[in-house]
Amino acid sequence: MEYVKSLQWRRTYVELLDQTLLPEKEVYLKIDDAASMAGAIKRLAVRGAPAIGIAAAYGLVLGAKNIPAKNFNTFNRELKKIARQLIATRPTAVNLNWAIQQLLNIANGSKNKSIEQILSALEARAGQIHQEDKILCKKIGNFGANLFNTNNVNLLTHCNAGALATGGQGTALSMIYELSRRGKTVHVFTDETRPLLQGARLTAWELQKAGIPITLICDNMAAVVLQKKKIDAIIVGADRIATNGDTANKIGTFNLALLAKTFNIPFYVAAPYSTFDLTTKSGDLIPIEERNSDEIAQIGNRRFAPEGIDIYNPAFDITPNKLITAFITDRGILKPPFS
Ligand code: MRU
Repeated sequence: MEYVKSLQWRRTYVELLDQTLLPEKEVYLKIDDAASMAGAIKRLAVRGAPAIGIAAAYGLVLGAKNIPAKNFNTFNRELKKIARQLIATRPTAVNLNWAIQQLLNIANGSKNKSIEQILSALEARAGQIHQEDKILCKKIGNFGANLFNTNNVNLLTHCNAGALATGGQGTALSMIYELSRRGKTVHVFTDETRPLLQGARLTAWELQKAGIPITLICDNMAAVVLQKKKIDAIIVGADRIATNGDTANKIGTFNLALLAKTFNIPFYVAAPYSTFDLTTKSGDLIPIEERNSDEIAQIGNRRFAPEGIDIYNPAFDITPNKLITAFITDRGILKPPFS
């Protein structure tokens, strides 16, 4: 089954599907410098934890190619400056920081190499991160699909943890593709995922394109769906998982985990190893990105909240580990604590 590609490396630029325009328009951007990549990540033209890690890695490579310095120390200092700008774009998804650190480690260990050699090593590592993510997604899909042994599987998901959010076939949505490949009938409910509608705009588009039956609901309808429809499990992705298993994911994930407990439905988090942050002990230590109030006050260009109203717009929440049935990872089905 073909899945959509969120981004592709073209050596002098990255071809990036502009997710802010979906589903109305399928526009591919040509990103050829680090500042444009930082801007694209910030405004969610590329989004989803693994995808922004890959995008940032390529962004750093593009930035590195433009550093005029001819000696190692100046080059490395400039590289770190660009890295900081990319990392600052989105603080919650740890994959971004993880991918950038991979490249910085290569540069730091290359004191005796020429700038040309360092540039090719950085480009090679960014490409590996991208290729590896495809494999990780596939593994997650296989482990996840093994959890379901009936012929009909009904799932509920939140936000978009699919091909659009990764370099491969997704994390949470990967098991849907695998179940379908195994000949199972999969039906997916997706909630719209206010404020930026990643469920309605992206998951609905991606799964429809792949021929997977999908039903769109508003966020406030999940309880009724769990009460009235036979849902086998809720599956979501993650932006950062702390050592104790507390998980940051798109705002509204915590609500679904509470509902899953009420209705005694398994609640699974799917993520690759690059989303696990073993330097962060628990969820309260994960930085939560707060975004512009316009995202809540308006839909598209139409404002419907009164001017001057106070608005709170956290982009992510933390689901406590005790509400998570299991983690579906590239290394199998895991339970915390992780070490
Ligand atoms: O703000 P977004 O769209 O980047 O948020 C994305 C999510 O919360 C995803 O669920 C998460 O990154 C996992 S993607 C495989």
